Amino acid sequence: MENYKTIIEDIYYDLKNVDDIGEVANYIPELAFVSPNSFGVNITTIDKENFGIGDFDQKFSIQSISKILSLTLAYKLEGENLWNRVDVEPSGNPFNSLLQLETNLGKPRNPFINSGAIVICDVLLSHLKNPKVDFLNFCKEIANNTTLNYNEKVAQSEKKSGYRNAALCNFIKSFGNIKNDVDEVLDFYFHICSIEMSCKELSQIALYLADDFYTTHKGNRVLTMSQAKRINAIMITCGFYDESGEFAFKVGLPGKSGVGGGIVAIHPDKYCITVWSPKLNQNGNSYKGMLFLEKFTSKTTSSIF
Ligand code: DON
Repeated sequence: MENYKTIIEDIYYDLKNVDDIGEVANYIPELAFVSPNSFGVNITTIDKENFGIGDFDQKFSIQSISKILSLTLAYKLEGENLWNRVDVEPSGNPFNSLLQLETNLGKPRNPFINSGAIVICDVLLSHLKNPKVDFLNFCKEIANNTTLNYNEKVAQSEKKSGYRNAALCNFIKSFGNIKNDVDEVLDFYFHICSIEMSCKELSQIALYLADDFYTTHKGNRVLTMSQAKRINAIMITCGFYDESGEFAFKVGLPGKSGVGGGIVAIHPDKYCITVWSPKLNQNGNSYKGMLFLEKFTSKTTSSIF
């Protein structure tokens, strides 16, 4: 940890004053109120050692990073049948694209683009009695953290402006790959995206993807080893949409981004690291977050490759 800590501090102070060419997401009106220069980093090792710097303790909207958690619960509940509903191929397209759904007959390319995550929400609705409460309880147990919550303002703001997601959900339903009511699926999807966490909380909740032997404080396994390996595989091939190749090329870790400016990255058997910096590049991924992680895995020589 000492080695990681010094390197994180060095990179953090190097990047803190670097001109950030990104832009804060504003297509969800409520997200535009974030303080644009926030910058936090946190690492948690599989021995549960923790180090954070900057705004590591401040909660932000995790947005698409939540797609890891919804996929995890759907995989647990549905098993391998899940892959009949959603594919595991990179899309090479923006996160909110409708393009491939037509040719793929309503089967999304992967669970991390919006279309795929919407199908995952549909799967969860078919399994859960009280979807929003049950999903949050699942997150709370993995993280051993009762403070986790949805941000109702963010969820409602996206509901009002989420025309593309509504189009995706209706389009998929026309192919028969949404089983529940479209409004219910979208409401659940927007709530899951609105969950807030700090970098510290995020690197703790995602530790089950780094640690083969992870059990929750109640003694439950989150996933089998093989399931965790598979989610890591989808993260490295699809976690950054049409920039997934670039992230693998420059950072070399399974990871997932969100338009709130967060990124979580996993080094299997070693650590989970999270960065938050709200200004995004043209692909909707945190500009400084990507830069930070590239420098981090280079200086620590700790990519998986
Ligand atoms: O559905 C949306 O557009 C947002 N709730 C989430 C998108 C997102 O975070 C993409 N990530 N970089």
